[in-house]
Amino acid sequence: MRKIRLRINGDLYERDVRESKTLLHFLREDVGLTGTKEGCGAGECGACTVFMNGETVNSCLVLAVEADGADLQTIEGETAEDGSLSAVQQAFARHHAVQCGFCTPGMIMTVKDLLQRKPKPTREEVIHGIESNFCRCTGYQQIVEAVLDVTGQLPDSEKEGLKYV
Ligand code: FES
Ligand code: FES
Repeated sequence: MRKIRLRINGDLYERDVRESKTLLHFLREDVGLTGTKEGCGAGECGACTVFMNGETVNSCLVLAVEADGADLQTIEGETAEDGSLSAVQQAFARHHAVQCGFCTPGMIMTVKDLLQRKPKPTREEVIHGIESNFCRCTGYQQIVEAVLDVTGQLPDSEKEGLKYV
């Protein structure tokens, strides 16, 4: 066991962890942040994506001890303290880009990373930007539309029937 200290969504944590434990399992089992999902467990699907020191990582491929001293953001940090959803989360809801929801936390982390690097991505850049995250339900179209919408780039013809708050 080794003691680690890290910041997650702005809060400081100190825990004793097994040296072989992944960051994904640490977040879910030791900290209780179960928003981050385990899909493949092998760095292939993106379901476990979180921010670590400002960059996205597959938390299934990072050991918890490697995150000692790190600053993390998980999907739980995306929602405001009053429970209101972020603009990206609202766009996902508006476009039915969430179906079973299993890929959604990781997908939103990846979209957030994309928009930090490229605030107005083209449709092709969005498609390319989310290619590391697998979604088995939506066919990706709604996710791409949600990203274009949140960046103010959705053509008017595709906005019909959408509810904006
Ligand atoms: S669970 Fe980590 S990439 Fe699939
Ligand atoms: S919404 Fe089900 S896997 Fe993406």
